[in-house]
Parts: sequence; structure tokens; C-alpha cells
Amino acid sequence: MCLFAIGDLHLHFQSELKAPGQLYDPVWKDHEIKFRENCLRMIGTDDTLVLVGDHSWGKNLSQCEEDFRYIAGLPGRKILTRGNHDMFWEAKKTAALNRRFQPELAFLQDGYEVYRDYALIATKGHTFEGPFYLNRGRQIIGWDETAEEHSKKLVARELVRLRSSFESAKQAGFRKFILFLHYPPTNILEKCSGFTDIAEEYGAEQVVYAHCHGEDRFHDSIEGMFRGRCYRLVSGDYLRWAPLKILD
Ligand SMILES: [Fe+2]
Ligand SMILES: [Fe+2]
Repeated sequence: MCLFAIGDLHLHFQSELKAPGQLYDPVWKDHEIKFRENCLRMIGTDDTLVLVGDHSWGKNLSQCEEDFRYIAGLPGRKILTRGNHDMFWEAKKTAALNRRFQPELAFLQDGYEVYRDYALIATKGHTFEGPFYLNRGRQIIGWDETAEEHSKKLVARELVRLRSSFESAKQAGFRKFILFLHYPPTNILEKCSGFTDIAEEYGAEQVVYAHCHGEDRFHDSIEGMFRGRCYRLVSGDYLRWAPLKILD
């Protein structure tokens, strides 16, 4: 029994592909075939796979159905968390998604899923991603402060959600946690954030995130051990479409 994670599948069986990099970068060529083959090789029926957001380019549920069928056909138990491109998924409609796709798929938002004696906690997260202003030496000399203010509001909202999920798991008796964020916990300017603080406060053993794809973004945030937690990037192209084993 193992726990695996990967993010940013960006499937598009029924929808328009919106990221040009996905057309030209060889790592994305037939990525859904490579990923499926890796899953069949690595994941058993009693394993769990957490898909850490940006599942589909579909603009609505009907444009995602083929993508969900593909995910449902992968081995093991599947838990999906929200990414910034998941237009089919409004947070307040999560219960309806679960009613429709259970038992094949579980949509995790506000609350927790259980894996052994762990509570798996997930939220989309957020971090300010610019625009940053660079000088000729490509050093950051400023950024869009209005966008930064807006980001701060989104971060605050996500932190409230996260705290409430941790609290509900704690009240149910859980003492071991894995935190899944779609956005990285910090941006390129930060050493720590409200997300790293809350991971430390509740003692999350690992913080698993995605969203950073394309080689020049792979090292935007924290990797490896930081203040007692293990931070792991699981974007699909970074992992070359092989899900990462999070727990044995
Ligand atoms: Fe993505
Ligand atoms: Fe994303």
C-alpha cells in the first residue's frame, strides 16, 4: 500500500490546448500515454494516487468527461485536488462532483481524505507570480504592486480554508498530516510563507506541490527538507510523467 502524487496533467481529450509549450516541448509528446504506462507499471490496486491540480483544459464539466474517464481508468484509488486551471471545479460544488463521480474519483477540497493514519489535506494555495520587472541582468527590480495586493487576499482566503481543514482532521483525532498545494508554497522572492508556517504549526510531514512546469520554473520554490518538513515538487513534466512515491 503506497501513496503517490503527480500534478499538471493538463489533459485535453475534448478541449482546446491552451499552453503552446505543451505542443512544442518533447516532454509533453503523448504525455497521457507515457503517464498511463508509468501508472500501470508502478501503482497497484490498493495504492492511492493524488492528482495535484490542473487536470484538464476543459472549460466546463462536459469538456472534461473524457479526461475523467482516462483518470478513472488508471490503477488505484484516485484523489483529485484543485488547480488554477480547473475551470470545471467551483469550490462550493465539490460535494456535487463527489456525488457524480464516486466511487471512481474523489475530489478533495475543504476537509481531508484518510490514508492509513494520515489525514491528507489539500487546497489550491496561491502565491504572487508577478509580473516582475527585470533589469538587463535579469535581476528583479520591482513588481506589479496592485497584482501583489490582490494575491495577498487570495493567499489569506486559502490559509483560512487550510486551517479549517487541519482543524477538522485534528478534531477527528488525526496527528499525522500530508499537505497538498497546487501552487508552490513560496514564490521566487520568499524564503517562507503563511503556507510553510501552517505546515509547521500542524506538523505536516510533507508539503507536496505542483504548478511549476517548464524547466525554468522547476526551482521556483522550496525543495527537500526545510524546517523539519519535506517539500516536493510533483508537476508532471518535472517527474517525466512517473508519479512520485510519497509514502510506503
Ligand atoms: Fe499547470
Ligand atoms: Fe497551475
